[in-house]
Amino acid sequence: MLSYQFTDNKGTFRVIDPENTSYLYFPIANETGMKSSVTPLLGGDCKMDQNSFVLQPVSSEDLHSNKVSRNFWCDIEGKGIWSATGMSMHQLSNQLTQKKEKTLLDAGMLYHTMYRVSDEYGIGSKILSFVPIEDNVEIMRVDIRNISNENLEFTATAAIPIYGRSADNIRDHRHVTSLLHRIETREYGVYVKPTFSFDERGHQKNEMTYYVAGCTGEGNKPEGFYPVVEEYIGEGGDFLRPTAILNKHQVVKKDCSLSGYEAMGAIQFESMILRPQEECSFIVLIGLDKDSDSIQEVIKRYDTVAKVEKAYNEMQRHWDKKKNVSIQTGDSKFNNFMQWVSFQPILRRIYGCSFLPHHDYGKGGRGWRDLWQDCLALTLMDPSGVREAICNNYAGVRMDGSNATIIGENPGEFIADRNNITRVWMDHGFWPLVTTDLYIQQTGDLSILLEKVTYFKDKQIERGEAIDSNWHSFDSKRMMTEAGKVYEGSVLEHILLENLTAFYDVGDHNHMRLRGADWNDALDMANERGESVAFTAAYAGNFDTLTRLCKQLIVTGIDEVEIAEEILILLKQDVELYESVTQKKSLLKEYCEGSSKRISGKLRRVSLDELMNNLKQKAEWIKQHIRDNEWIEENQTETVNQGWFNGYYDNSGEKVEGLFEQGIRMMLTSQVFAIMSGTATSEQVKMMTTAADAYLYKAEVGGYRLNTDFKELKLNLGRMFGFAYGHKENGAVFSHMTVMYANALYKRGFVKEGYKAIETLYRQVSNAEVSKIYPGIPEYFNDKGRGMYHYLTGAASWLMLTVVTQMFGVRGLGGDLLIEPKLLKEQFNHTNTASISTIFAEHNLEVILVNEADREYGEYQVAEVYVNDKLIVEKDKVVINKEYCMCKKEYIQSLVKEMNQQIKVILR
Ligand code: G1P
Repeated sequence: MLSYQFTDNKGTFRVIDPENTSYLYFPIANETGMKSSVTPLLGGDCKMDQNSFVLQPVSSEDLHSNKVSRNFWCDIEGKGIWSATGMSMHQLSNQLTQKKEKTLLDAGMLYHTMYRVSDEYGIGSKILSFVPIEDNVEIMRVDIRNISNENLEFTATAAIPIYGRSADNIRDHRHVTSLLHRIETREYGVYVKPTFSFDERGHQKNEMTYYVAGCTGEGNKPEGFYPVVEEYIGEGGDFLRPTAILNKHQVVKKDCSLSGYEAMGAIQFESMILRPQEECSFIVLIGLDKDSDSIQEVIKRYDTVAKVEKAYNEMQRHWDKKKNVSIQTGDSKFNNFMQWVSFQPILRRIYGCSFLPHHDYGKGGRGWRDLWQDCLALTLMDPSGVREAICNNYAGVRMDGSNATIIGENPGEFIADRNNITRVWMDHGFWPLVTTDLYIQQTGDLSILLEKVTYFKDKQIERGEAIDSNWHSFDSKRMMTEAGKVYEGSVLEHILLENLTAFYDVGDHNHMRLRGADWNDALDMANERGESVAFTAAYAGNFDTLTRLCKQLIVTGIDEVEIAEEILILLKQDVELYESVTQKKSLLKEYCEGSSKRISGKLRRVSLDELMNNLKQKAEWIKQHIRDNEWIEENQTETVNQGWFNGYYDNSGEKVEGLFEQGIRMMLTSQVFAIMSGTATSEQVKMMTTAADAYLYKAEVGGYRLNTDFKELKLNLGRMFGFAYGHKENGAVFSHMTVMYANALYKRGFVKEGYKAIETLYRQVSNAEVSKIYPGIPEYFNDKGRGMYHYLTGAASWLMLTVVTQMFGVRGLGGDLLIEPKLLKEQFNHTNTASISTIFAEHNLEVILVNEADREYGEYQVAEVYVNDKLIVEKDKVVINKEYCMCKKEYIQSLVKEMNQQIKVILR
């Protein structure tokens, strides 16, 4: 039964007997590319990218079915062999019995320390695993302690199988690729440099060396090695009963070369004697490098306990600095939980959506949607590099408003689609503005809208409907003008294109076409006639945001902007046109045809005032159209009214939600964007939350589920209906959408309802007995309430965003600092205080909220504001309103000359 205790306020936690819960894994990584996962029995894997796995890749099912792990053997004189990681046949067979060894895990950012005590063998181990901040190496520091009353004589052997190749070869040519292995034993370890990177489309000469090295805590070299798996396990043996260790085979000495076998990083140390209670240490390094000389240098950097300790402390300081948002509410567990949540966006930047055991898809690289959303958290945590990132990302937009879907490792690197399928996700144009707007409001940097950026060009044109046969893969991947110059348009122009093309890209019911899918990747079988009302509403919200941004630009004295001449046609302001599906389609076709191959390069000036009204009109038209056609209302009783919006049309052109033969059909996504965009009226929001509580809420599995059970395969909508109900995109509590639901509700002032969505998610995580995960937010909870796909989820960014900018209400507005608290009374601590430390205007800031009269949200008002204990009353510095206070940009800027600022807001 899993349970954990936090041991500080930085998210550090302790678990007893963690190996008695299956599927657990923990990430350890750095930002230079090393990505590992570690389990309580030191399973998991270690890699740089899809083609460079040091340890054999593992999926979640391998965590228990596959016995390949990092191991560390102690061959104890008179007692036999004992595994410091618990991975011996004997220890595993005792694991679920009374004879189980005592184990304990301490974990924090980003380290994993397993303790193991064996009364039977009179020995204990402590294994610290972490990745230092700069080297591509995973460090295992193994401390062995004699817990008996007699001397303990033993021989230690670190034993880590080296996979050393691409994840693709786990089944494809697994044996053949081992023939490529060139294995060498050196002073400190076993090195493997395969001759080729195996790829039947064209084999590449391999430059990567994979290694496992080791020394004692004082830096003493090993005695020798077992460098080949076959000899290490011996005939009839395996990783849990390796013959070489059991039968004390002779080791191979350094400078020995072997070819064509699966490699084994087994490193044996000189035998030693520990007196009672005495301990000793070993260091094991697991890594890879293209330059084999630098491996020597890496080993030198970590060849004593003191050096490892130093690297460990540096690593801790590094992550501590990165994770610079923390909260203090009355619930210390929630505060600690949020420590992990704010760390998760960093993890997703490192791992992408691949490379942890549940995330056994993708090959690295980052998807468009995820990229923009992860940027949300970054904007709050470390806005310094965000401007550049945003500008680079916009270069992935095509002139038809669609975009490249995969973003490469380097700025400006884009790939149309990972699997070379021509696809358009209709929600992709929505997210960039959400992120860009947050960035602008937090920083006041409106000028980013006028920054010039290129456009992506490939063979895909007309929003995935046609192919540009004149374009070749060796042509420029940037849009050119007819004069042959690379075309650059403003960021604002890119945003307009993404949203305006979507506006005209409609289906039979005059909502935007679903195309490849929307946010829900699994709605992928309605490309012809499917429509996403949910995201049509979302885009309406974007038109409102754009309207506000135009207004903000006007205030700064800018009246006009330049846009490409071709785009003007998309700015037609004509309600008759809006109403006509045919006219909209032909207008979009006309635009796409005129701009798909090259564009004129001619620019036209557009008045911001006109643009503003134009966009406002489009927003209003969409909202009204949805209200008029998609509202489903159920008058249960005279007093209970509930209703919701239909969010989709399937490939047969039929409404997806409502009352069907098989029962009620309701989807959370449809409600989220209707609420967030202001499409739903306040009256409707109330009815929607009642319906969500009635049809989607199930506390035992984490709260609001993604949809009701459709009890139909629905081949005319998407693969999600093939998933068992209650799992992943079919009716699981999918954290990302639940959090966005909360966010939308907070924004609309439905604070209690928003809090309920977050609170149930958090309670589910904390109920570790059921959720069976370490702290943090998982992608979803399955039908049993188990947390799945832990760590790598956009839910983390959105939760952080919601807690900071909505719950605490600390956010920017054109660079001013707005504080609009929406905390419930129960969230304040025993002194009626709650606080948040965050970054604003690039400096640390602590906002303390004092609920002086112990009032509920809605009853308290902002009464006084103190900055560094000084009461501020001047209007030009701080504006106080009953719901919020606002510190003016100039005042904040004058303050931030000093590093740490404290703003105390008294609520009465
Ligand atoms: C994942 C994907 C995200 C997608 C969602 C629903 O969610 O990464 O792009 O929108 O599934 O299909 P996440 O990992 O963000 O929780």
